This record gives sequence, structure tokens and C-alpha cells, in this order.
Amino acid sequence: MSKYKSDLSNLDEVFEKIENVPENLITVLQKAQEIYGFLPKDVMYHIGEKLGVKPAKVMGVATFYSQFRLEPMGKYLVMLCGGTACHVSGSEKVAKAVFDYLETESGRTTKDGLFTIEKVACLGCCSLAPVMMINGEAFGNLTPEKAVSILADIRKKEAAE
Ligand code: FES
Repeated sequence: MSKYKSDLSNLDEVFEKIENVPENLITVLQKAQEIYGFLPKDVMYHIGEKLGVKPAKVMGVATFYSQFRLEPMGKYLVMLCGGTACHVSGSEKVAKAVFDYLETESGRTTKDGLFTIEKVACLGCCSLAPVMMINGEAFGNLTPEKAVSILADIRKKEAAE
């Protein structure tokens, strides 16, 4: 049985177009993330083999850069604004409450696969600070309680479906 689970043939085109050298590791990881939505372990291993980069080094690069996602995206992408206007309006407390409630941290997906949380810079609606965006919809004037209750409502709705 193959040790790979992801369909690695999806990467063939990338390897054909890009010179397979260690210097292209980040570019190939970016392309892989576009294809798979995140970087599965077997995909990273395969990329390392192709480019001549040790698995530990591939993993090191993937974990160092926040642009890379190591888990599948949740059904809901929750972007917590940490921009200046939101920061002065209490976004840190909101973020802490959200992380505590979901038992996760920025860049991670909850165990139930429902939420992926990302702390981001200004979301472009500072008059609503502090703001979070869920799948593109902005929720403003947040308090820690309000943010948690919005997420709890989504969970309830999902559980009922
Ligand atoms: S700083 Fe948060 S929306 Fe602009």
C-alpha cells in the first residue's frame, strides 16, 4: 500500500513548470496550498523528495511562514482583526475569549473542523471596531461575550442540521 494518501499527481504540473531545486521550496509549497487548500504531511514529504530537501526542513519552512496552513480549512473562516482601530477598541480581549471558547489559536482549525481562526490586520471596516469577519460577513462593535455568542449560535445551528 502506498504511504501517500493525498492525490500527489495533482502536483505533477507544478513540478513540470518549476525547476526542481531546493531554492524553489517556498514557491512549490505555495502552489501546493493552492491545490490542496492546505499542506498535508504526505504532500510536504513528496515535495521534499522531489526538490532534494529533507522533511524536517520542509516542515520548518511550512511552520515558520504564517501563509502556510497545516490543517484543512474549517467550514467557517473566522478572521479576527488586530489592526490599530480594533486594537484600541479591545480586540485582544475579544481574541482571547474566542480562542478560549474554541480551544484553539490563530492559524488553527477547531477539532470539530468547523472553524479556522486567523488573526489579521485591518479588515477595512474600522468604524465597526472591534471587528471579526466570518466567511466574508463582518460582525462589529464586538465584546468578548458578543463574539462568543455569535460563534455559539453557529455551532448550535450546525448541530441542529
Ligand atoms: S483596524 Fe480592524 S477593521 Fe480596521
